[in-house]
Amino acid sequence: MKKVLVTGASGFIGSTLIDRLLELGNYDVYAGVRSSSNRKYLQNPDIKFIDIAFSNVERLKEQLEQENFDCIFHLAGLTKAKSQEEFDKVNFGFTKNLIDAIDPQITKLIFFSSFAAHGPGEEVSFTKAKVSDENKPNTAYGRSKLKAETYINENFKGKYVILRPTGVYGPRETDYFVFFQTIDNHIEPYLGFVSQHLTFVYSKDLVEVSIQAFESEISNKTYFVSDGNMYLDSEYAAISKQVLGSWTLKLKFPLFIVRWISLLLDSVGRLIGKQFTLNKDKYSILAARNWDCDIEDLKKDLNYVPKYDLQKGVEETIAWYKKEKWL
Ligand SMILES: NC(=O)c1ccc[n+]([C@@H]2O[C@H](COP(=O)([O-])OP(=O)(O)OC[C@H]3O[C@@H](n4cnc5c(N)ncnc54)[C@H](OP(=O)(O)O)[C@@H]3O)[C@@H](O)[C@H]2O)c1
Repeated sequence: MKKVLVTGASGFIGSTLIDRLLELGNYDVYAGVRSSSNRKYLQNPDIKFIDIAFSNVERLKEQLEQENFDCIFHLAGLTKAKSQEEFDKVNFGFTKNLIDAIDPQITKLIFFSSFAAHGPGEEVSFTKAKVSDENKPNTAYGRSKLKAETYINENFKGKYVILRPTGVYGPRETDYFVFFQTIDNHIEPYLGFVSQHLTFVYSKDLVEVSIQAFESEISNKTYFVSDGNMYLDSEYAAISKQVLGSWTLKLKFPLFIVRWISLLLDSVGRLIGKQFTLNKDKYSILAARNWDCDIEDLKKDLNYVPKYDLQKGVEETIAWYKKEKWL
């Protein structure tokens, strides 16, 4: 049995990865959690738990030496935060400490970065983003992920793969859920007046390719992960609407209004200590028109064949939301 650690195990993608690793049956699975983590999706009795000392390299080293993991899937991270400092502390700082503590002879690292580390693609010819492009992250989140990638690339002497997933959706996800809920409530929102080019990856396809990245001999490479298709925002809405069986009223919001609301929510959030789904970072993501990416290397190197296009993935996701009475 290969011994693997999933950090961020309590999260949407981490818990989906744990489920798949257990289902495959060849892995001794450790869930990296903290005492406050919600273990709702970590109920399988075969899961072993470890509270990772991310802020203490010496303690972290001891923890890792004791376990000698064959692989660490590093997913622990913030997707919403109040400031660049907060993002950097967790997304960059914890990753740095992990790199400084791992024995590179023993453990392969699969790092969950994000498309955000690259930033959106250009909006004239709408070409696909490539790993060889110059990175221009347009969010604090993206900058923190890029710092972590750079540290890994420059300092980690072992085997590693960096994955840059685009928008990940699937059962348990809470942000795209808000869009499905809005469509279900008969509102079809559009932000800005120029079509957005969007990409998606279903959570099950993402966790499958991350396991493949561990099992393959591939190392020291970075990949975008999507389902390989580009969808216009109107296609995304049409699929959601059809799967939900909803009728909708189309509402187009000028970007300056969305920006104004996001700044307002940021200020309110700071006052009450809460992060809203719409915030300044999220505005920058929503305002960008080109989130198309190239996954040819991923297909070639890791034999990646996504099993879910948006239609199939949304059908399965919405069935789950309905079963769980979220919708
Ligand atoms: N979802 C997407 O669309 C997407 C796209 C690209 C990349 N990613 C990346 O994929 C990873 C997982 O994303 P997700 O959507 O599953 O996010 P999520 O549901 O928010 O899960 C985040 C995980 O990170 C843990 N975490 C956060 N702050 C921590 C801290 N200070 N110390 C220890 N653990 C901490 C959380 O633990 P608690 O439960 O204890 O808070 C949780 O388990 C992230 O690194 C994210 O940047 C996600």
